[in-house]
Amino acid sequence: MGMPEDLVRNMSTTQHKPQLIFATNNAHKVEEIQAAIGHQLEVISLKQAGIDIDIPEPHPTLEANATEKSTTIHHLTGSDCFSEDTGLEVEVLNGEPGVKSARYAGEDRSFSNIDKLLYKLQGQTNRKARFRTVISLIIDGQEHLFEGICEGHILTSPTGGQGFGYDPVFAPEGDTRSFAEMNMEEKNHYSHRRRAADKLVAFLKTRSTH
Ligand code: IMP
Repeated sequence: MGMPEDLVRNMSTTQHKPQLIFATNNAHKVEEIQAAIGHQLEVISLKQAGIDIDIPEPHPTLEANATEKSTTIHHLTGSDCFSEDTGLEVEVLNGEPGVKSARYAGEDRSFSNIDKLLYKLQGQTNRKARFRTVISLIIDGQEHLFEGICEGHILTSPTGGQGFGYDPVFAPEGDTRSFAEMNMEEKNHYSHRRRAADKLVAFLKTRSTH
């Protein structure tokens, strides 16, 4: 991706490689987004940026939570940055757990989010679900949103040891394996996060040609 001076003027650089802060503490997300974006742009996690903060996600939509995270970091640093929020939307549960995906099972640590999901889907033949990611980019003080969706279904039991979150019970359309049975490259072939990241990259490319 070509990155002329005007695009990167608010991004910090090391050895001429532009960097963009990713407002997350989730190392899996950083790895997946970095792989999706490629190597012309270095993604910097909050930890790498020396920012120790856990940004709350109190809003009823992925969009509002993503905005909350990116604006918080933009106000703190004054730098261009982006965030993302992701939810698992299950058709027969009317889109649940959705924006509540991270807190689905509540505080009870003996019952995981996956346990709760499988319990709710017991006996269900319609297991259609999708992951939806919303990226909020703040560049030159303006916000831009990008959505990525991955359709698939919920398996009847967890399989695989890779990935994170709901990966062991989600199989994307076009594959019989769960995300947790795939390496990162294979997951990124299908994933919601990569699809949103593709749009982010396409947007940055458009700006770089102006
Ligand atoms: P958040 O975007 O970090 O708030 O994630 C919401 C919930 O969805 C958390 O429980 C995450 O572990 C889970 N989650 C987010 N992205 C993925 C993914 O790519 N695969 C599986 N679970 C995910």
